[in-house]
Amino acid sequence: MEGRGESQRVVMPPAQAGIFLVVTVRPGAEETVRELFADVSGLTKSVGFRVPDGQLSCVVGIGADLWSRLFGVPRPAGLHPFQELTGAVHHAPSTPGDLLFHLRARRMDLCFEMTARLLDRLAGRIDVADEVHGFKYFDERDLLGFVDGTANPEGAAADAAVFVGDEDPEFAGGSYVIVQKYLHDLDAWNALPTEEQERVIGRSKLNDIEMPDAVKPTNSHVALTTIIDGEGREHDIVRDNMPFGTFGTGEFGTYFIGYSATPDVTEQMLRNMFIGNPPGNHDRILDFSTAVTGGLFFVPTAEFLDDPPAHVAVPQATAAEPPTADDSLRIGSLNRSSAS
Ligand code: HEM
Repeated sequence: MEGRGESQRVVMPPAQAGIFLVVTVRPGAEETVRELFADVSGLTKSVGFRVPDGQLSCVVGIGADLWSRLFGVPRPAGLHPFQELTGAVHHAPSTPGDLLFHLRARRMDLCFEMTARLLDRLAGRIDVADEVHGFKYFDERDLLGFVDGTANPEGAAADAAVFVGDEDPEFAGGSYVIVQKYLHDLDAWNALPTEEQERVIGRSKLNDIEMPDAVKPTNSHVALTTIIDGEGREHDIVRDNMPFGTFGTGEFGTYFIGYSATPDVTEQMLRNMFIGNPPGNHDRILDFSTAVTGGLFFVPTAEFLDDPPAHVAVPQATAAEPPTADDSLRIGSLNRSSAS
């Protein structure tokens, strides 16, 4: 297995359309999945080339259990199942998922066709656990009406935030991705005056300006998701959330997707949001948004997908100690800050 190769297209300009597809892989379908991996870049070209400026991309993430089934060892250092969180008021569930396909493009037809091609190859071998079709909503807004994605790092800073480096050389150039589907209580949200909504998010609604520290509430979304370590360094992730909704069922929400070089950073944000920082001081966005799914996946390099390695069984000596999630955050003690 090689170290850093060309990464998958994790960092992309904001898309107009997206499909978030999470599937579980049936027993015995491992070879089918391995063959599909090798063809994902070719399929993306076949579908994408028909609309040259359509910017179709397909990122593939692999869950912890499926990794063991497909590849055994070695495994990416931070790969483990999504950790469910139960705070005093809010709950983040962990839900089934072996593979994540994150499809983005300037047009939905590209995402739709690519999904069709992927599922065609996997027919009868997988089950769709969750499928969300996301759309661009005016100027990068979510359905809460706020601009979403502003504080994302860009360029080299984005690459540093999302790609595994020398700390795990075998998997350098890979990335971790955490996804959660949130449903909004829009009636309750829309009943809040705009000034109060702004205090929930920590930014102004119309022009998207961050509140100064002195006025930004400690239980605002921005305060609780800004992660500063003991040395004063900020730890970023790259998000590409999308709104979705259907009027018939009354389901309206935000599909959260966050890429990072280590899941620790996103997991700390989640603990701040759900447990609170300090505990009990939970994110007010959760009083209007319910997490209904949760998954964690490793995104290997494009080279890895093109030529997936053979399965290597876990050596006997380590077999008794399956990898566990390291609950401690290796990024020092964390404070809140407005720096972003
Ligand atoms: C209901 C789901 C969510 C909605 C509607 C939402 C919306 C927003 C909005 C409007 C902002 C401010 C603009 C921006 O910088 O993007 C923001 C910032 C942010 N959100 Fe979320 N978000 C959600 C869930 C999450 C989750 C689950 C995480 C992490 C686990 C997260 C991490 C962040 C981060 C890191 C920032 C930037 C903070 C900073 O200013 O440094 N968000 N979000």
